[in-house]
Amino acid sequence: MAIIKTTENDKLEFDSAVNELKEYFSSLSVRKGRTLTYNVLTYGCQLNESDSEKLSGMLASFGLEASSGGELDAADVILFNTCSIRENADRHLFGNLGVFKTLKKNDRDVIIAICGCMMKVPENVEKIKKSYPYVDLVFDPQQLHRFPVLLRDSIRNKKQMVNISADDYIAEDSFFPIDRKRKFRALVPIMYGCNNFCSYCIVPYARGRERSRSFDEIVRELSELASKGYKEVMLLGQNVNSYKGEDGKTFADILRAASDFKEFSRVRFMSSHPKDLSDEVIDIMATRPNVEKHLHLAMQSGSDKVLKDMNRPYTISRFLEIADKFRTKVEGGSLTTDIIVGFPGETEEDFEETLKAVEKAKFDAAFTFQYSARPGTKAAAFPDQIPSDVVTERFGRLTEYTNRYSEESNGRLVGKTMEVLIEGISKAGDMTFSGRTITNHLVNFTIPQELGINIGPDYLEGRLCEVRIDRARPYSVDGVLVSLKGE
Ligand code: 5AD
Ligand code: SF4
Repeated sequence: MAIIKTTENDKLEFDSAVNELKEYFSSLSVRKGRTLTYNVLTYGCQLNESDSEKLSGMLASFGLEASSGGELDAADVILFNTCSIRENADRHLFGNLGVFKTLKKNDRDVIIAICGCMMKVPENVEKIKKSYPYVDLVFDPQQLHRFPVLLRDSIRNKKQMVNISADDYIAEDSFFPIDRKRKFRALVPIMYGCNNFCSYCIVPYARGRERSRSFDEIVRELSELASKGYKEVMLLGQNVNSYKGEDGKTFADILRAASDFKEFSRVRFMSSHPKDLSDEVIDIMATRPNVEKHLHLAMQSGSDKVLKDMNRPYTISRFLEIADKFRTKVEGGSLTTDIIVGFPGETEEDFEETLKAVEKAKFDAAFTFQYSARPGTKAAAFPDQIPSDVVTERFGRLTEYTNRYSEESNGRLVGKTMEVLIEGISKAGDMTFSGRTITNHLVNFTIPQELGINIGPDYLEGRLCEVRIDRARPYSVDGVLVSLKGE
């Protein structure tokens, strides 16, 4: 298994396949007497969303138009970008795939393709080969830059094509046309893959070894985004803090470079691992006004024994120390986390340690997960898998705890006027808009008519405003717009 950087040759091959596909779809469109469409169905995390923006960009470059937006819309090219992090993500694919069987039966020109993390799990690929012969193309997330070539070949060959690579590729974003879903927010992957091998996690198998993009390329992309008017950048990686660029450049260097663009009102990042988060990054968060005051730091468990079995190289007291440092340095900052319950061997005492840690860290929000055995990971073979009724019961108790603290966190905002970056309309019926504070709190708000503000969502998206918060809910707060910035 090697890490391979794309070359000029790859780009030439890419361009030539795009041209052939343009011609193919253009004559198909004439034959059918209508515009052709694509539908990319995206599951999972923001890295998958970022991949889908590239896949959509490529499909648009073949001359296809996006379908009208419904998840299960019929289209001429249907592409599933799958996720494998937990079992229910797998079920989604096989559930939805069946919906398109009749479409393909009635129109042999329809193309069904599947990519994403699930395709790195051999059992899933075997299942598609055996039970879903109407799927045209299967490829893995490491080969996005080869999508036009693979699609062209599958159209030429007219039989199911499965192309899973053993290598980990790295293609800079400039390789692709990108169809960014939000006009104010740009997702910018800075690294791919993960070397941590937490014992429960499929990601290192699905996304391969850690590889960082070039620092200069990232800065070039950020500069282009700033000049195009993007207001928010989201720096992405499974483990952003272990970024390693040329000349010893670190994640702190990227964060500083991004925040130097004053055009960005928000610089955000996901995800951080407790073992790699540096004091320097916390200091940047504390001092740079456009860097988010929000840290997502996965705790996973409050028990040292479980953390060890998970192959998470920190103790709970070390985790709480980092949490404390963040709270002290980044005033008013919010701390969120991921927690797994029911990891193999987790005893009632271990679980209570997790509750105690939640009590101490007082997370502003927590994503809680029931352990799901992922075939091929170490933990899937551990003895002592926890019965599902015990997992469900613990999960219920944990969410009661975490919800209490997130409601408290939202409650602390009531009565305050906060700066909010507007993301769009949240409920069209009653003209409620939504946005986020720099601490990543979700705010739903109304706009009093007497302010005479143009409420067209296209006009408001990406703008900063002041909102008076007057009510807390478990996962969001409600408020009223006080003023629009820059008016
Ligand atoms: N079972 C349950 N949760 C998992 N996660 C990752 N793998 C699993 C699994 N096998 C959770 C972790 C991770 C988040 C993205 O998903 O908490 O931080
Ligand atoms: Fe998975 Fe652990 Fe890597 Fe996160 S750090 S992607 S949980 S292996």
